Amino acid sequence: MTGSDAPRRQLTPLEPLVRAVESAEFLDPAAEWVGKNVRGLISGGALKDALSGTWLGHALHPMLTDVVIGAFTGASLLDLLAPDADGVASERLIALGLVAYAPTAAAGINDWADSEAVDDTVRRAGLVHAACNGVGATLYAASLSARRRGARGRGAVLGLAGMAVMSAGGYLGGHLSLSKGVGPNQTVFDPGPTDWTPAADATVLPDGRPTRVVVDDTPVLLVRDGELIFAIHDRCSHRGCSLSEGELKGSEIVCGCHGSRFDLRNGALLGGPATSAQPAFQVRVENGVVQVRRLQPA
Ligand code: FES
Repeated sequence: MTGSDAPRRQLTPLEPLVRAVESAEFLDPAAEWVGKNVRGLISGGALKDALSGTWLGHALHPMLTDVVIGAFTGASLLDLLAPDADGVASERLIALGLVAYAPTAAAGINDWADSEAVDDTVRRAGLVHAACNGVGATLYAASLSARRRGARGRGAVLGLAGMAVMSAGGYLGGHLSLSKGVGPNQTVFDPGPTDWTPAADATVLPDGRPTRVVVDDTPVLLVRDGELIFAIHDRCSHRGCSLSEGELKGSEIVCGCHGSRFDLRNGALLGGPATSAQPAFQVRVENGVVQVRRLQPA
């Protein structure tokens, strides 16, 4: 069967909309400008690690979105299900959502700024995701203001509008994480061989220079230090850059893309924005051939 004979795949209901967003090239200048400024503003150190979730072991943003979406949705559900209640609980939930929105947006835009250069579609979908959430939060802020002026009905309508816009933003956020792979540990589906496997000719492995080899389809970073050879997964767990293009600093490799630091001896994460360690490998040399096998975490 040729490509032209193949039956056309049925699109899911929201796929055309997502495709329209992903192909909206007119968004690129604004997205590039925002991404550049965010990267300039949050360029590394404790703030970047905190927003990235390095201390948490996975991205911070998805966890915080639960608080924002849960609080706003709870307020709107109370409006719908308990319209005769005095409305104080709804107001408090909206206030909670607005307070949680600021760190959630900061964590999200930090994650996006590290990803937008990877793929044009990620850049565009991320910008629209953020814009939807900003509009949704603004509508909830207007809703709270209306309620405090005694216009609960108007506040409820504004809240429902906010929920609708935020749902669109949430859908795009899920698409970015689950379909485009923004956020997951980039080595998770490919941790490397568990049995001793040939990796390189030991006689030509350069000393003190990061070298990328492919072992059973897994990219592996080899670093020779005299008689010692270290091996860790070469695909950075953060956004997938090759660590062989990073900078060697003693027993550390610093990723060239966003500066995550890993210990060559065991793959340990020494500094973000990555949130996961690299799979590490045991190394031996047999008959002039470097062999590696996965080092099980302690
Ligand atoms: S890809 Fe971002 S730090 Fe390595």
